[in-house]
Amino acid sequence: MAAYRPPHIPASDITPRSIYMSRRSFLGTAAAGLALTGAGSAFAAPLQARPGPYTLDEKLTPKEAVTSYNNFYEFGTDKSDPSNNAGDFKPTPWTVKVDGLVGKPKEFGLEELLKMPIEDRTYRMRCVEGWSMVIPWIGFPLAALLDQVEPQGSAKYVSFETVVRPEEMPGQKGLFQPLPWPYVEGLRLDEARHPLTILAVGLYGETLPNQNGAPIRLVVPWKYGFKSIKSIVRISLVEKQPETTWKNSNAREYGFYSNVNPAVDHPRWSQATEQRIGEGGFFKTARRPTLPFNGYADDVAGLYAGLDLKANY
Ligand code: MTE
Repeated sequence: MAAYRPPHIPASDITPRSIYMSRRSFLGTAAAGLALTGAGSAFAAPLQARPGPYTLDEKLTPKEAVTSYNNFYEFGTDKSDPSNNAGDFKPTPWTVKVDGLVGKPKEFGLEELLKMPIEDRTYRMRCVEGWSMVIPWIGFPLAALLDQVEPQGSAKYVSFETVVRPEEMPGQKGLFQPLPWPYVEGLRLDEARHPLTILAVGLYGETLPNQNGAPIRLVVPWKYGFKSIKSIVRISLVEKQPETTWKNSNAREYGFYSNVNPAVDHPRWSQATEQRIGEGGFFKTARRPTLPFNGYADDVAGLYAGLDLKANY
């Protein structure tokens, strides 16, 4: 990954929260749940969600920026590649296999996943490259899914895997392969069970656009964005620390934990500040200080008591 290059998003693209919120409550009453329309690619169906914990009183990043300034290397390495190249990706039908050290392994269909306790979860997101967004996700706690498969006592970690579909994901075919596939990620079991950790199925009141990881992706707001793996097809409970894509590709720069930490710089750039996408003008960036654990320290710092966060980056 490279350091931050500013995108061109006019300040006028910012949707005031009041307008967005009134639209949300309209969707809440109008939508009788999710209408999953066939094998559509460019569809966006309204999604019903109840208010969740962790409300955030910060300006939302414009939807246009959330859905056009992306990292999803399966569709290319430029920020605009995912939105430009994900049109042929088919997020339905879809299943997620949950297996490994569990009492009840199971393959979940998307329809079943959409019946989980789906909530509004607006989170701050911080990319390791130095930019950040505030995104109104819709999703359910990963813990709710894990409960259903009954993890065994020997399970200490959770590993995640993205789909491999070179025919629908142009970044997975051709001469230049930026990463080995499938993209894989992992969490410690207690991180995976933390109530902040969700599987997101939508954003801004609708199902996930393909470029944001349709139909289901992980969201772990106190860690750098690359932990939030997209388009998940498999979740496994395991005993040993799982492999992760960015650590595999450059262990000096990317570790297993990847907690947002302004005190630990990336070897090639500082992590002390960040550019909130949509803030500042065309010529001027407006960097703000990065907060420990991305501002979620009160909730998660306890998970790392006694752990050296410099050595375990
Ligand atoms: N998941 C997969 N499968 N492939 C990827 O390239 N990029 C990661 C993460 N999940 C990535 C992925 C990175 S680097 C970031 S910053 C976030 O997705 C970006 O999520 P967003 O585009 O929805 O903001």
